[in-house]
Amino acid sequence: MYRHTRIAVPMFALAHAALLASVVAAPAAAADHGQAAFNNHCRTCHSTKEGDNRLGPSLHKIFGAKAGAAPGYAIYSQGLRSSGITWDEATLQKFIANPDAVIPNNNMKPYKGITDEAVRAKIIEFLKSNRG
Ligand code: HEC
Repeated sequence: MYRHTRIAVPMFALAHAALLASVVAAPAAAADHGQAAFNNHCRTCHSTKEGDNRLGPSLHKIFGAKAGAAPGYAIYSQGLRSSGITWDEATLQKFIANPDAVIPNNNMKPYKGITDEAVRAKIIEFLKSNRG
């Protein structure tokens, strides 16, 4: 009986550790939602926190919002402010690929654009998740 217990406990501990690892890893991967891609390409200039304007305006709830309307961001270009754009899937895809193709003379500089559509889609997914 004593021998049995000594063997059984470590085996249970191993199985438990493996189960825990799988339970912890799954939500961490799913919760990313493009956060890493956003951090790599956008976070030097943008935050998604409400009112947190940096070199670029806060992108809090930007998905579905009118362009040029972030509260407290006073240095929009004339082009962006008067563009009449609503930020949806299509306009964000184009803008992140090549800002000048959507809004000539915008101030989002120096930003080179992202050629990989899948990366753009991830970033848009991240912005959507910040809708509110
Ligand atoms: C070099 C700094 C910089 C980087 C990097 C950058 N932006 Fe910007 N962004 C700006 C600036 C500055 C503006 C304001 C442009 C204007 O007024 O013409 C802006 C404007 C925007 C707007 C319009 C916001 C509004 O209120 O209408 C969106 C959307 C946007 N950026 C998304 C992104 C995304 C997504 C990324 C990453 C893929 C990114 N930006 C990377 C500086 C940057």
